[in-house]
Amino acid sequence: LGISAGLQVLPFEQTYLEPAAEIFGRAYAAQRTLTPSLPPRYDDPSEVLPLIRGLTMKYPAVVALSRGKLVGYLSGMLLPSFRGSERGVYCPEWGHAACGESPGSVYDLMYSEISRAWVGEGCLNQALTVLTGDRPALDAWFWLGFGMIVVDAVRGLEAVEPASWTPDAGITVRLASPAEGSHLLSIKREHTRYYREGPIFLPKREPHDAAEVERELASPRLRLWVAEEDGQVIGIIKGALEAEEGCQVVRDPLTASITGAYVRPAWRRRGAGSLLLQAMLDWARDSGCARVSVDFESANLLGRSFWLKRFSPVCYSLFRHVDDRVLRPDR
Ligand SMILES: CC(C)(COP(=O)(O)OP(=O)(O)OC[C@H]1O[C@@H](n2cnc3c(N)ncnc32)[C@H](O)[C@@H]1OP(=O)(O)O)[C@@H](O)C(=O)NCCC(=O)NCCS
Repeated sequence: LGISAGLQVLPFEQTYLEPAAEIFGRAYAAQRTLTPSLPPRYDDPSEVLPLIRGLTMKYPAVVALSRGKLVGYLSGMLLPSFRGSERGVYCPEWGHAACGESPGSVYDLMYSEISRAWVGEGCLNQALTVLTGDRPALDAWFWLGFGMIVVDAVRGLEAVEPASWTPDAGITVRLASPAEGSHLLSIKREHTRYYREGPIFLPKREPHDAAEVERELASPRLRLWVAEEDGQVIGIIKGALEAEEGCQVVRDPLTASITGAYVRPAWRRRGAGSLLLQAMLDWARDSGCARVSVDFESANLLGRSFWLKRFSPVCYSLFRHVDDRVLRPDR
């Protein structure tokens, strides 16, 4: 495909699988020295090798070689709609890696090649997830036009730092029962509407009815806690075991994930969120987990300030929208 500065970009072949998985394994091991609460399993290239195989067999995929040695690979899944009604492509954190003297140039050249295939397929909404410790990769993608949209973060189960304040005495936290759909419907709807507003602008689907909330609560892998004051629901937090949301590298049988948290505006900054988080951490410990993960939109100002003080970011997801007029013939 392309040749520049001693680098050669070629279509991915299955013989590159092992060295590709090894490059990712090294990047992940480096990330784990920064974030020791991450699961150790992804240090082992054999964990991601089948994932890379599945991705590269199905979708466009390239490698970069320097003097015949693999120094990078890149592939992403093509999606019929993604972050909007246009077609898109999503490249997970294990779907790319670059090493050697100039990883930034490796990314530049690989993206130059594969982006033509992506846009040729009409995939204008392009996103990829990058390990937060991989500065050369973050710089390369930033210069290629990508900006942050989502953060994945993780923490161990150590108690939340003692605060200089105490939560309001009237706030209590309890586990919701699966029969409470109608009681929780209004806060669940309010929570989804929060994301639709600026500056987040993420249209999440509201639950249709109480029965839908009850079906969700009936899942054995999921728990929801409710914060109340004077018998009124003022906040919720949702925890899940073996969640399929968020980036791959937090996924592990010993990871419990926060899949939603919301405190009503009038009750914020009074300790309800912290009490809900503590209830979720206690459950994670009692369930035998080793860590808790969360993911949030980087434009969610309230969420990001709350989570960043209590969790360590491990992956940033970056997004680029390609101008749709490039798909139309010149007039
Ligand atoms: C994120 C969210 C759940 C936090 O809930 P909350 O009830 O405001 O959380 P807390 O009151 O425990 O803590 C919020 C801040 O108030 C401070 N605070 C809480 N009680 C306090 C008190 N009595 N005196 C002084 N400060 C207090 C906390 O220290 C914290 O500040 P910090 O993050 O700088 O440490 C809430 O802002 C929210 O619902 N946001 C919208 C939805 C959202 O973003 N959800 C997360 C989705 S991923």
